[in-house]
Amino acid sequence: MAKTFYVTTPIYYVNDFPHIGHAYTTVAADALARYYRYAGRDVFFLTGTDEHGQKVEKAAQASGETPLQLADRVVDRFRTLWTGLNISNDDFIRTTQARHVKAATRFFETVQKNEKIYLGTYEDWYCTPCESFWTEQQLTGGKCPDCGRDVQRLQEESYFFRMSDYQKPLLDYLESHPNFVRPETRFNELTSFVKGGLRDLSISRTTFSWGIPVPGNPKHVIYVWFDALLNYISAIGYPDNMDRFNHYWPADVHLIGKDILRFHAVYWPTFLMAAGLKPPKRVFAHGWWTVEGKKMSKSLKNAVDPYKLIDTYGVDQLRYFLLREVPFGQDGDFSRDAMVHRLNGDLANDLGNLLNRCVGMLTKYFDGNLSAPTAETDAEGAVRTLTDEVYRQMAAAVEEAAFHQALTAAWRLIGHLNKYVDDMAPWALYKDAQKHPRLKTVMMTLFEGIRHISQMIYPFMPETAQKIRRQLALPPIDETTSRREKDAVWGQMQHETRIEKAAPLFPRIDV
Ligand code: MSP
Repeated sequence: MAKTFYVTTPIYYVNDFPHIGHAYTTVAADALARYYRYAGRDVFFLTGTDEHGQKVEKAAQASGETPLQLADRVVDRFRTLWTGLNISNDDFIRTTQARHVKAATRFFETVQKNEKIYLGTYEDWYCTPCESFWTEQQLTGGKCPDCGRDVQRLQEESYFFRMSDYQKPLLDYLESHPNFVRPETRFNELTSFVKGGLRDLSISRTTFSWGIPVPGNPKHVIYVWFDALLNYISAIGYPDNMDRFNHYWPADVHLIGKDILRFHAVYWPTFLMAAGLKPPKRVFAHGWWTVEGKKMSKSLKNAVDPYKLIDTYGVDQLRYFLLREVPFGQDGDFSRDAMVHRLNGDLANDLGNLLNRCVGMLTKYFDGNLSAPTAETDAEGAVRTLTDEVYRQMAAAVEEAAFHQALTAAWRLIGHLNKYVDDMAPWALYKDAQKHPRLKTVMMTLFEGIRHISQMIYPFMPETAQKIRRQLALPPIDETTSRREKDAVWGQMQHETRIEKAAPLFPRIDV
């Protein structure tokens, strides 16, 4: 049976419009999912929406809807965006779905049965107009950090999770799983945080009602993180289909932004331990995008709209830019200049031109017909060796979610092929009829190289990869039947192929 690969994105709040920050994680998860499907793994790729909580309740009040009406509306935007970005998720979970509500309820009951939940009193500073609790440290000058008004000391009855019981088990887990949190710097930060001690966590609220009721005490709703995180297990069958659940759990990787690392790498594993379930294998926290040097603000004033980018530049162009521009794990800045520069350089000049040049030459020299290669020289041997090496480098990079490195590796081959054209000077070979057998070998090597490039870029730029294959009269990559390992073997271009001219893959963008 094929080895499984379970990858998730965070579930997005429905009180905001999708922006490039959301697109970023989802595109990264998609690249992983496609990479591993093509490698023959049994992949499950999950995304979805986080629909409960006070923020959603308030946003709905403001727009005169019920929370569910608001959620239905915003969910459509996410779904449409994922379709537009060619996202291949296997499921889409909404925390308002019955399957999730049931899972969260059962999970709460289980942890309660295991005596890790108790009823206590939550005491903190409360801002009445904002309906928000704040800790002493969060206050600014003793006032509400959001609106600047006076706060009062308030008490609220609350259920607590005995997170303090899990400091030792979690530290043990971190010690025995040094790859649990990536990048490594985040792992170290997190370990020091846990060493500082874990406090019991308030996991219910009575001040608003838009949430999953606490079983047996519906005055309380379950705290949004004790609900949201469970999407990762409710979507794969917990608690009704434990066979399916055990098939995919523990998740191979949760991809998240750095701001929600603590929830995923401290709260989540301890919740799971308390329910007798295994923690996920890995949590990867990526960095944040700023826009033209500034923080993206929730108000959407400067948030970059991925739909517009798709319209202006194209889907694969956006996917490529997001994954290539910034090392996954580091912060990055989004600017039109940077994007145009990247697309013109890497896509139009390097990849687009390579294909164009090769098709142009083949059309001119052999009326578009490829034919069997003859004797190979060291130059062809070098192309083969590099191709094998790039597959290996890409595999290692993808394993570490180092997408920029994986793409850089593929571009080494592209660069090498462009140089091979210059070095072999096909135009000179063409002038001498005796050198035409040699010219045929050069052309075949180039198209064989381009075939490999289509396979290498597929997880990142699926549409482009298929376009190239169509032009090369190759079957499309089919994730259920095509296997990278088989396709990676050198020399599978059909000898008698006719290659037609086509529109350029990546027209240059005028600055
Ligand atoms: N609903 C929670 C997640 C629950 S997961 C069980 C949530 N939602 S969110 O919509 O606010 O954020 C979702 C993701 O978007 C987070 O991983 C966050 O890091 C990411 N980003 C939000 N703004 C971002 C940038 N400016 N740049 C990159 N990622 C950003 O948190």
